[in-house]
Amino acid sequence: MEDIKQEIEELRAEIRRHNHYYFVLDQPKISDQEYDQLMQRLLKLEAEYPELVTANSPSQRVGGEAIDQFEKIEHQIPLLSLAKSFSKEELREFDQRVQKSVAGRVEYVVELKIDGLSTSLIYQDGKLIQAATRGNGLIGEDITHNIRTIKSIPLNLEDELDLEVRGEVFIPLDRFVELNHRRVEEGLSRFANPRNAAAGSVRQLDPKVAARRPLDIFIYDSTYIEGQQFKTHSERLDYLEELGFKINPARKVCTEIEEVIEYCQNWTAEREELNYEIDGIVIKVNRLELREQLGATAKHPRWAMAYKFPAQQQETKVKDIEVTVGRTGALTPTAVLEPVLLDGSEVSRATLHNQDYIEEKDVRIGDRVIIEKSGDIIPQVVEVLVEKRDGQQESYHLPQSCPVCQGEVSKVGADYRCLNNNCPSRTEEKVKHFAKRGAMNIEGLGESLVEKLLENGLIADLADLYYLDQKDLVELERMGQKSSQNLLDAIEKSKENSLSRLLFGLGIHHVGSEVARNLAKNFSNLDEIIEADQEELTAIDGVGPKIAQSIISYFSQQENLEIIKKLRQAGVNLEAKTVKQDDLLEGKKFVLTGKLADFTRAEAKREVTELGGRVTGSVSGQTDYLVVGENPGSKYDKAQKLGVEILSEEEFKNIVNS
Ligand code: IVH
Repeated sequence: MEDIKQEIEELRAEIRRHNHYYFVLDQPKISDQEYDQLMQRLLKLEAEYPELVTANSPSQRVGGEAIDQFEKIEHQIPLLSLAKSFSKEELREFDQRVQKSVAGRVEYVVELKIDGLSTSLIYQDGKLIQAATRGNGLIGEDITHNIRTIKSIPLNLEDELDLEVRGEVFIPLDRFVELNHRRVEEGLSRFANPRNAAAGSVRQLDPKVAARRPLDIFIYDSTYIEGQQFKTHSERLDYLEELGFKINPARKVCTEIEEVIEYCQNWTAEREELNYEIDGIVIKVNRLELREQLGATAKHPRWAMAYKFPAQQQETKVKDIEVTVGRTGALTPTAVLEPVLLDGSEVSRATLHNQDYIEEKDVRIGDRVIIEKSGDIIPQVVEVLVEKRDGQQESYHLPQSCPVCQGEVSKVGADYRCLNNNCPSRTEEKVKHFAKRGAMNIEGLGESLVEKLLENGLIADLADLYYLDQKDLVELERMGQKSSQNLLDAIEKSKENSLSRLLFGLGIHHVGSEVARNLAKNFSNLDEIIEADQEELTAIDGVGPKIAQSIISYFSQQENLEIIKKLRQAGVNLEAKTVKQDDLLEGKKFVLTGKLADFTRAEAKREVTELGGRVTGSVSGQTDYLVVGENPGSKYDKAQKLGVEILSEEEFKNIVNS
């Protein structure tokens, strides 16, 4: 028994160490498989000896018991908010106020202002015992059960200390895009932005839901650390970093306000490079003694200031609301806008997500609204200027029948869905999905060409792509001999794709690329999957009863079996032994910088992970390749300095398409 106990303790220590390398330092030391093996061994031992399971074992991150309601928690020291500045002049005024109240030179620490949710974490004897939301600053809610699922938060510290740290919980941008992507694939509605997604995730009663959300945290402050007296905030952050907390690396000590201003200006330009959203810069007096002297007003400390970026927002008018019908039949409302320039590009449409969103924001046709855009995220309406209404505005409700096929519409969760499987709009979306990069990757078969093929009756479903005739194609507008041949070649090439690409491409409800990959790994061919029952399917990683049901239902529909039959006759690969090398980039680490012309960040990342590689956020000695798009940031200089291999977009494309 003692032996087992010791092995369990050693395993836990090792897993904790690797969590730290992977989730905090972004520098894994072992492969995912090796990590899984350690975790499997721990889970096995803990299952055999349940009396040895402890609440803070790394195995317990996946989510414990659900709670009935959130308990209120009174903060020992209130969580204040920050006063805001919007210009250099205001920052200089802040500096003058500070200088006037204290003697001698003042040093500042500047940090990124992460756009997430502020959270307090309390440790006792080195163990995380409580996590709470900010709430109204005085009283927050107990979210310990969800916060424990965040792998960059240590559950146990090496030293048995009592302390409180505060930080910002957020969702990285690439993971946010993936999360929304997965939700759409699974027929769920999108989150409006990463902050909302993070807020919704930490306020779940069931921690298993939070465990599936890509939450992360940066710690930016501490109110007490047992036995430690620091002179400066920067020393305290360095110490917290040593304890294993994730501290943002962009922090900097500045000796004068002009240096602070320069930092703010640099980050205004470079923030697009980050893989998380920031809404400004926080400027803090570094010496803790001076902070005491400066004190606070009822709301804000006098020793800190938030510099807010000029908003990437614009006012415009909602001219109309249009509806599109997606692959799964979901009706998505889109605001048609008076075109405005935002973040360098013209915006004339913004997503309204679903009926609930329209009602929550009370968006009406004819309203003046504020729209916002950031990163890869589709422009959206963030606010209605109710005071600008003149009585001409019309409320809007999604139609009761499908605007494309007039079929029956039914409410499923937050979505209204067209129930007609043969709705032309759904077919169109299915073919577009089939052809796209993450699915069958048919080069040259973009959205407008799919529309043309359907309009001209050259195809009626996705399998018809494999029966196209060149003499019909050349008849199409802007389709010569050469481009039609290229298209046919690309379609021909796609026949060799892996089964997982095909499975994902079929667009089965709830079957995203990850589930598709797991299915392809566990069956020898498509026929086995078609014949699999609920039990066999739910035995697969990531496949629950809902997904299993969806797969069974898909393959029980005659029209889908017809499609499979046509694919088979055309010679499309239905076998699981991968024809294409799926581990071409096994173990390779990529970093992306600048804007890529043909990929969003999330797409580029998916390409790399599909081939077994990994994309990390920052360049280090461990990085194998830096992929450089337009207007690269400082990562480019760093990669050159470290001698990391630099790839142009063209070179990157060649690798992922090879
Ligand atoms: S320091 C006394 N540092 O911004 C306030 N806050 O408006 C101490 N935030 O509630 C806050 N990044 O949620 C600080 N590096 C950072 C931050 C940060 C984001 C948030 C935090 C706070 C809000 C202040």
